[in-house]
Amino acid sequence: MSKWKKVTIALSVGIMMFTLAGCGGAKQETTTKPADKKIVLGFSQIGAESEWRTANTESIKASAQAAGIELKFSDAQQKQENQIKALRSFIQQKVDVIAFSPVVETGWDAVLQEAKAAKIPVILTDRSIKMSSGNAEDYYVTFMGSDFVEEGRRAGKWLVDFMKKDNEVVNIVELQGTVGSAPAIDRKAGFEEILKQHANYKVIKSQTGDFTRAKGKEVMESFLKSAKADGEKIDVLYAHNDDMAIGAIQAIEEAGLKPGKDIIIVSIDGVKGAFEAMIAGKLNATIECSPLLGDQLMTATKDLVAGKTLDKRIVTKEGVFPAEVASKELPNRKY
Ligand code: AHR
Repeated sequence: MSKWKKVTIALSVGIMMFTLAGCGGAKQETTTKPADKKIVLGFSQIGAESEWRTANTESIKASAQAAGIELKFSDAQQKQENQIKALRSFIQQKVDVIAFSPVVETGWDAVLQEAKAAKIPVILTDRSIKMSSGNAEDYYVTFMGSDFVEEGRRAGKWLVDFMKKDNEVVNIVELQGTVGSAPAIDRKAGFEEILKQHANYKVIKSQTGDFTRAKGKEVMESFLKSAKADGEKIDVLYAHNDDMAIGAIQAIEEAGLKPGKDIIIVSIDGVKGAFEAMIAGKLNATIECSPLLGDQLMTATKDLVAGKTLDKRIVTKEGVFPAEVASKELPNRKY
């Protein structure tokens, strides 16, 4: 064999080995990053519709800073199309991890397929999703947040215990959250589950207030007007969040009624505003839903980049706060 032939064979073997090593590296779906490079997390927030959401945003921003994670934060102003745009831009920028709180449950198929194709892990915070085909769980690594059905059940149980009415009819009006959102769907379902066991409790009106104070007030005004026209008495307001309840309280007062007395009110979140309303005697109970997900999200992001496997579901621990404990609890509230 000539000297040149030997050199050519040696080179080809070398190239083959190099290529194989390269292929092996590409096949491993590892996200490990050099220690001196900051982890980049793209987060798409729903908007700023409530006190809860503001606290959630603050928690995420503060925790990212404390964890030394570079946060690319995008506010979708409650529009799904803006969230989809933000997710696409995170994919383009090749962030290490994408996290988002989906405004509604459906309509994420295409963009999550794109994230999967780009091998960027996705974390769901606060709200979950449903895919039109296939298993949603194949498109995210973990979902951290509350059990909204359980929150609805807690509101229902609290109400039945508080009212202590076994035979008398109890007329309830319901302010729902954003149409198509996981908390609106689940909180309604959980509450109804309890009411099914108590036939005298009736939801006589139910409409969305989009999780905002302004809409909560507006819809409560129309509930009060139509109840008056129909000769119905509203006994209870169940609001899917505290902000809508606070808006509704204003409408009730403007109608010359006493919120918390003439109309019993139970809502969800446990924000400071709700505790203040309870202390003022205008709200009867709030069911906790914690927005403080920042630290958990940063830990999960770091774990993912380090190649660790995460639990598919991380449920937030929460309680129930009736008005009697409001003044004692208010100083402990962090949001
Ligand atoms: O998804 C959580 C809900 O969204 C909170 O209950 C509500 O206040 C917020 O806007």
